[in-house]
Order: sequence, then C-alpha cells, then structure tokens
Amino acid sequence: MGEVKINGAKNAAVAILPATLLIDGVCTIENLPHISDVMISCEILEKLGAKITWNNKNSVTIDTRNIHTTKAPIDLTSKFRASYYIIGSMLGRKKEIEVGMPGGCQLGARPIDQHVKGFEMLGAEVTVGNGTIFATADKLVGNSIYMDIVSVGATINIMLAATLAEGTTTIDNAAKEPHIVDVANFLNTMGADIRGAGTDVIKINGVKKLKGNATYSVVPDQIEAGTFMLAAVATRGDLLIKNCITKHLDSITAKIIEVGGIVEDYGDSLRVCCKKRPTKANIKTLPHPGFPTDLQPQMGVVLSLANGTSIINESIWESRFQYTQELNKMGAKITAQGKTAIFEGVEKLSGAPVYSTDLRAGAALIIAGAAAEGTTEIYNLEHIDRGYENIEERFRNIGAQIERVKE
Ligand code: UD1
Repeated sequence: MGEVKINGAKNAAVAILPATLLIDGVCTIENLPHISDVMISCEILEKLGAKITWNNKNSVTIDTRNIHTTKAPIDLTSKFRASYYIIGSMLGRKKEIEVGMPGGCQLGARPIDQHVKGFEMLGAEVTVGNGTIFATADKLVGNSIYMDIVSVGATINIMLAATLAEGTTTIDNAAKEPHIVDVANFLNTMGADIRGAGTDVIKINGVKKLKGNATYSVVPDQIEAGTFMLAAVATRGDLLIKNCITKHLDSITAKIIEVGGIVEDYGDSLRVCCKKRPTKANIKTLPHPGFPTDLQPQMGVVLSLANGTSIINESIWESRFQYTQELNKMGAKITAQGKTAIFEGVEKLSGAPVYSTDLRAGAALIIAGAAAEGTTEIYNLEHIDRGYENIEERFRNIGAQIERVKE
C-alpha cells in the first residue's frame, strides 16, 4: 500500500495570504503548499509593501505594517484567478485598490459581478474597464447581501471587505466550501468576528482592527486529497491518504463506493483501494457539499475506464471538458457537448502525447498516464505547478513511473 501526505489547501492559501493585508502587524502562516500560485501571491504582497520572511518552504511570516501603494502589479495579478482577493483585502485596509483583471484557468466565462455587487453594497465605488478594476470607498458599512449565485470567490471577497467595515454584514446564499471556513477561521484568529462560515448565511460583525501576532495553519487540501483518492481508483491501487479532513471528502467517497472502490475512513486519513474495474456512475458537479467541479476531470479518468456508460454534467464551468479530447488521444471514448459529457468506458488507456489545458485537467492526465499502458508525455506543466507541490515525486513515491523532462 502506498502512502501520501496531503498539503495545505491552495484555494485557502491564496485567500489567506491577501487576507493578511487586513492586519496592520505581523502574522505567520504555516502549512502553505509550495506552489506557484502561493509564490506569486507572496510577490504581490511584497510589491504592496509587505515584508515576507520564509521560515521554511511551507511557512511564512508576513509583516503588513508598511503597505505603501494601492496599485497591485498587473503582470502578477493577471497570472491567476485568486488575485481578486486583493480587492476585498485592500478595500478593507486602505479603502482603495487598482488591480488587473484576474487570470487563471480558462474554464469559460468567469464574471466577477457578484464580487462587485458585494463591494458596492458595502459602500465602495467599483470601475471595471481597460483590463483593470479600480475600487474605492470613503468608508465601508455593513449591509445584507444576497448572492444571486453561489460563488466561492465572491463570498470570500465580501467577507474580507466586511471584516473591518462599520456594523454587521450578512451574506445570504453564501458558498460553503472548506476553504471559506478556513479563511473565516484565519480572520477570527487574528481578531475578526465572523460567524456561520460553512453555512448558507455568514454574519460578519465589523471590528476596528485585526491584531495579528498569531500563527495560523492552512487546512489540508480537499482537492489534492480527492485527486489522490481518484488516482488510487483509476490505477486499481491501494493508497493511504494521510493528513486530510475526511468529512470534506464525503461526496468523493460516496462516488468511489458507487463505482466499486473501498474507502476506509480513519478521521484524518483515508485508505482507498480498488481491485477490480470500476463500474459506471453519473456525476453532477455542484457547490460544496456536492461533487466538486475541481475533481471532475480526475473522476472523468475513472469513468473513462469504467465498465459501462457514464454521464458527467458540469454545472459550474462552461468549458471544463477540454481534457476529454486529450483522454480520447489515449483511447478513451468520450463525447462532450456543452456542459455534458458521455463516457463510454474502455478497458484500457494507452500512452500518448497530451496537453494539460488547465490545472485540474493536468492532474487528470497524470492519473490517466499512470493508469495507461505505455508512455504518456504531458505538456504544459506550468498549469499543474500552479496547484500541486512536487507532484511527480509524490506520484513516484506511490508507485507511478513518472519523471519531469526538462526541455
Ligand atoms: C473557485 C475556485 C475554483 C473552483 C470554483 C468552483 C479558487 C481560487 N478557485 O473559483 O478552483 O473551480 O471556486 O468551486 O478558490 N460567477 C458569476 N459571477 C461572479 C462569480 C462567479 O456568475 O461574480 C459564476 C461563475 O462563472 C461560475 C460560478 O459562479 O459559474 C461559481 O464560480 P465561483 O465559485 O465564484 O468560482 P471561483 O471563486 O472563481
């Protein structure tokens, strides 16, 4: 049986790092994944005036006492999606921010109207145009904000902006992902007053100041844990996944059991094994606690190898089936149209040159390559490096024959 230890959550880390801007002081963040999105987040903080000291590759001490500009570097913020958290944090801290439009995976239209609506309801003026977002406020005042759609990013961003606002903010129809709870826990550790994170309704009682002077450890990555769980099933392996919060993985556990795998739950670790060919299953991606869209491509690999025909309905992103064309090059039989894909399971995949089209698609291709006969060459690794620390070594340690070939 192979063993893998799960790192801190990327999507929590890239929100907690900008959240440190709300502290006029010093704090330490531990269990940060050592990935490019985290490194860029730290670079952005430095450009705004924060002093960053690395304690080791997964722990950083941040001094935000000298934030001297309200212009975020466009070249860096355009590199990933979560750079939009600079807006909520800087609105809270300095009441002003100019930032480039966020980049990130091309998964279809990624509007930010709910973020803007939230900031405006707190009293900010927001101008979006010419590739930048400019937000400013005389002061932020708490309000009742109903989210028209369930958005992870907008929920966190409004929470950030409301932390130092006057009075109480209520976010209704809030997203409930584990990293939302983690950001709220971080802010509360630093002196904020946030209740209800992880439910539909979050209440933020504005405080005057965050005190800092504390250490916070990032929650284990739900998506990384799910990636390894699904790798175990696709390769018909036996894997102990350590340092995870198994409750966050219920929707994945349920699907693995449905396709014939075995999951043993030890609270902070999981054993996943699958000794026979998985059977078909249908998936619909949904906001938490539903099946996460960020594990849809990895599940797609399992279903491409399943006995029978499966359907995946992607309800969050318009263009999240680009990876299916790559899997088809490896012998999969997948027909994708719009937000639906039909997986006619095949007995085996065969190695081929394939292109990682986005972060989670890249992870899916590694799983497919590990499960396939022959050699798979995966290109565009920069997508994968945005979200997985040391991915090839960790797959190698659990039995995959994988190496990074420098070109
Ligand atoms: C976050 C995750 C991403 C994940 C996604 C859904 C981070 C850094 N990224 O992205 O990995 O795939 O959640 O779990 O945490 N929408 C609007 N208007 C808005 C905001 C969103 O219409 O203002 C729509 C989006 O187009 C999408 C849906 O809402 O269809 C959900 O998006 P959202 O939860 O905001 O995703 P992100 O926070 O960008």
